[in-house]
Amino acid sequence: MKIDGSTQIVGVFGSPIAHTASPAMHNAALAAVKLNWCYLAFHVEPQNLRSALTGIRDLNCRGVNLTVPHKILALDIVDEVDADARKLGAVNTVVVKEGKLIGFNTDGYGFARGIKEDFDMTLKGKRVLILGAGGAGRAIAIQCTLDGATKVIVANRTPAKIAPIANEIAGTPTKFEAIGLDAESIQRVVTEVDLLVNATSVGLQPADSLGLPAGVFSPGLAVYDTIYRPAETQLLRQATDAGAKVSNGLSMLLHQGAKAFEIWTGRKAPLAVMRRALRTAVYGAQL
Ligand code: ATR
Repeated sequence: MKIDGSTQIVGVFGSPIAHTASPAMHNAALAAVKLNWCYLAFHVEPQNLRSALTGIRDLNCRGVNLTVPHKILALDIVDEVDADARKLGAVNTVVVKEGKLIGFNTDGYGFARGIKEDFDMTLKGKRVLILGAGGAGRAIAIQCTLDGATKVIVANRTPAKIAPIANEIAGTPTKFEAIGLDAESIQRVVTEVDLLVNATSVGLQPADSLGLPAGVFSPGLAVYDTIYRPAETQLLRQATDAGAKVSNGLSMLLHQGAKAFEIWTGRKAPLAVMRRALRTAVYGAQL
């Protein structure tokens, strides 16, 4: 990479941020399409998000990704919110355009592309059980309705957090059900779903367990864990042992990044380059 007077800046704001694999993925992509841009990670505290976003506008940067804890806060800061980001209730990609900050959300798209790639599955006509009702759970649930899923069931430890998702889905053709995140409730509904998605943060620590019995999983079920580090969570190990199809969240990370890249640059994302850079950054060169 050669930095000169014309180098354009994109990046990511988060707290914490040092662990992010996005710079590896995006800088590899920018180099592959020969753009004189660079992608940097910025540690931004939530109380400084407004000034940091104003800063990228005033510095005429191209845009940024937003990660924890900024995605919801940004809705009230950007000048315009794209319709899907409004529905998904969060912004993960900001573009600076003609002096305005415009918010997009590429997480739902990333999820849909991820399951297409990993399971050769589309959401249309599917019944989906989502564990978790935080930012990721909400984006996935709304994407399911946007793509024509027949039924969405959301399980969460804190039942009250499911209400905003239920409200957004009400009035769409997708049936909705809220349940507790306990083995008994999950066991009751899992036989009627095609896809189970973990969108809780349980599994980020290798010893973490959702406490689901092995009998929850079966060969006809596809199980997607939005966690990608560790590459195999306990949930995915249990599902594999039961003969279910499994995938971790690396494909969602890749495709949300690819879409953000296309929004900023107007160029087709070099997916193979991005996938390789991401795998190396997350798992090391051997995978
Ligand atoms: P993200 O943006 O990654 O979705 P988040 O918005 O903080 O992060 O959401 C985290 C999700 O993981 C929530 O569904 C949370 O459940 P609560 O709404 O009850 O907090 C879930 N979660 C986190 N730790 C958990 C735990 N130990 N057991 C069960 N669920 C947990």
